[in-house]
This record gives sequence, structure tokens and C-alpha cells, in this order.
Amino acid sequence: MPAATLDLARVRSAFPSLDLGVAHFDGPGGSQVPAPVAEAVAAAMTAGLCQRGSASETERRTDAVVTEARSAVADLLGAEAGGVVFGRSMTQLTFDLARTLSRAWGPGDEVVVTRLDHDANIRPWVLAAERAGATVRWLDFDPGTAELDDIESALSTRTRLVAVTAASNLFGTRPDVRAIADAAHEVDALVHVDGVHLAPHAPVDLAGLGADFLACSPYKFFGPHLGALTASPRLLETLHPDKLLPSSDAVPERFELGTLPYELLAGVTAAVDFIAGLVPGEGPRRDRVLVSMHAVEASEAALLTRLLDGLTSLDGVTVHGRPARRTPTALFSVDGLAGAEVHAKLAATGVNAPASSFYAIEASRRAGLGDEGAVRAGIAPYTSPDDVDRLLEGVAGLVGGAR
Ligand SMILES: Cc1ncc(COP(=O)(O)O)c(C=O)c1O
Repeated sequence: MPAATLDLARVRSAFPSLDLGVAHFDGPGGSQVPAPVAEAVAAAMTAGLCQRGSASETERRTDAVVTEARSAVADLLGAEAGGVVFGRSMTQLTFDLARTLSRAWGPGDEVVVTRLDHDANIRPWVLAAERAGATVRWLDFDPGTAELDDIESALSTRTRLVAVTAASNLFGTRPDVRAIADAAHEVDALVHVDGVHLAPHAPVDLAGLGADFLACSPYKFFGPHLGALTASPRLLETLHPDKLLPSSDAVPERFELGTLPYELLAGVTAAVDFIAGLVPGEGPRRDRVLVSMHAVEASEAALLTRLLDGLTSLDGVTVHGRPARRTPTALFSVDGLAGAEVHAKLAATGVNAPASSFYAIEASRRAGLGDEGAVRAGIAPYTSPDDVDRLLEGVAGLVGGAR
């Protein structure tokens, strides 16, 4: 069967904000939102929600919003609905998990973090390790290619946890997470995977990645601003996070502090349904998600080639990193201009491509880009070839043309 393709015009028509005419390359910071997601949030808020329960229609409706969102995230990530935890952000969920896991760590234990990761998958582990007296071991990357070094060198029989990204939000690198997880499991370490930057661009599968924990942020894939953490419910049962005395001790509720943002959860479900419908089809939602995400991957890869070919043909433009396997995210600098200037000049022409380290501060420093980083152009499922050409024309105008 030939791979399904994205109907770009149909996809774009779902995003009211695109009517403003802006070419959005800022997706890695947060995607644009399709109308059905915003409508689902509004509908949930006015439908009659209060607290979860089973006695009243209102309670049952509130409960359904939560269970539906867990199922939706499970379908997106190939996880079990009973192992989906929601929180304010991936950062908050990771700090909470690090605090919980590190109670069992002590001197001599080791935790592996990578220099390629967003700081949200570094600092929570570093701080927790320091507090526990455990040792932090850093997995480096090649600043030329932006490929991670071999994991073996960082592992030992004392490794308790490996934290690694499924995709770098700076260079787009997609490390071989499965190989890293297999090696970590050989020494009985747990594996925490940051799926925030991968989830909007490719099919994701918790078991396929070999992840024990996998985090994502729905606002990167058309949803509202919150975070989700997935793991096997059996693993979550073994963990005991700080919680209030009267709050539920059930899994996954035990990991969720305070009242959940129910209306945003309705938006999460709508976002996953939207993804499942990117390529119209029939069948279970997980299957439709996979078909759609394969189509997204193929469509974005073609646009990335157009973007990279264009950028590398320009005199005075440096593209940072050339990972073999990557998301459609390009990081570049323009000779003689600070990233912030490039960002501002492009924004003035309706092209949004921000410049920063994007909180991948260790990666930015290691690549010689300091704390300022560089300009990031992220392709999204709604990006058109015309958007790419507008970006390239804008950059060409800054450097005075092709090589
Ligand atoms: C790769 C990656 N990990 C983690 C995060 C943090 O996510 P959140 O904003 O949900 O804490 C981001 C946000 O940009 C990211 O790009």
C-alpha cells in the first residue's frame, strides 16, 4: 500500500491563525492550534464540569473528560491509558518524578544525562542526584554533527537512571533511543525519555523506544498548554510521590497534584483526534494516528530538504549540526548578525523564526553558540513550500544572495 500523503490545503484550513498570513517556523516552541481543539476547550468549560465522581451527571462528565484524555495520549504514544499522568508542564512532571525516584538513590549511585537535551530533562535529574549524593555522568555529543556519543562509556553497574531526548529541540537530532534504552536496561537502570520534540513529528511508541518513562507536551502538537508523562501502570504502582493525605492514592492519580485542568484535557483529546484525522481514514484511533504521523514525517522531510538546500546555498549562512536522523528542525546563524536581529528582521516580514538556546543550554554552549544560541526554523504539518521560500528569501535578503 502506498504511504498516505497530507492534503496540505485541508490541514491548513483547520488553523484560524494561519489566516493572518504569518509563516510559522516557531512550532518547536508551541504549535498553532486548529479550531476543533479550541472549540473542545470552550465546550468543556460550558458543558457543566466540577469535580470527578459518579453520582451526578456533572461528575460523570468531568470524569469522562479525564479518562478520554488519558486514552487519547495513550493512543498517541502507544502507551496504556492507566499510565498517563497529566501535569502543568513536562518540566514540572520531570521535577516531580526526579524528586520521587531520587529518594532511592545514594552515594555511589549514578545518573546519566546528555548535553544534547533540553534542560528540562537535565536539571531535574542533576539537582535530584546532587541532593541524594549520587554522581552525575554526562553523555556528550559531537558539536559538528550533533550526534550523541556512545552510551556504553557513561554506564556502569551503579547507573540508576538514564535521561535522554528522543529528539533535540535545537538540532533536530533523533538519537537511537532504543539502543540507549537496551544498554541502560542491561545494567538495570531506568530510562526517562523526553518525547516533547519528537511527538509532533513522528510516530511514537513507548515500548518501541524502550522507555520506562516518556514525557510530552500537548501544546507542541496542536493542544493546550500542559504536560503528560507516560509509563507502565505497574511501574507507577511502585512509586510513591509526595501527595496530600485525602487525595487519591490510585495510579495514575497519585502523581497528579491538585485539580486537573479539565477543559485543557478536553483539548488534548481533540488534538489527538485531529492528528488521527490528518489523513482521513477508518479504524482504531491508534492506527489512524500512525498513518497520519507517517504522512507528517514524509511531508516534513521533503520540506526540510528544501529548507536545508536553500540555507546551505546561501553565502554567509551557517547551518549547525547535520544529524543523520532528524526532525524537520534547522538551526542556523547569519554572518555579522546576532540571532535576535535575524529573528526581528524576519518577523518584520511575517516570518516567525526565533533565536535562542531554547533552553537546550548545555547543547548550545557545547556547539559554541553560547547562551544566545542561533535561529531555529521548525517545520510543522501546516508548513507550506511557500512558507519555506519566504524564509529563504528573507534570509537571502540579509546576506545578499546565493553562494
Ligand atoms: C525538547 C523539549 N523538552 C522539554 C521541554 C519543556 O516542556 P514544557 O514547556 O512542557 O515544560 C521543551 C519545551 O520547549 C522541549 O522542546
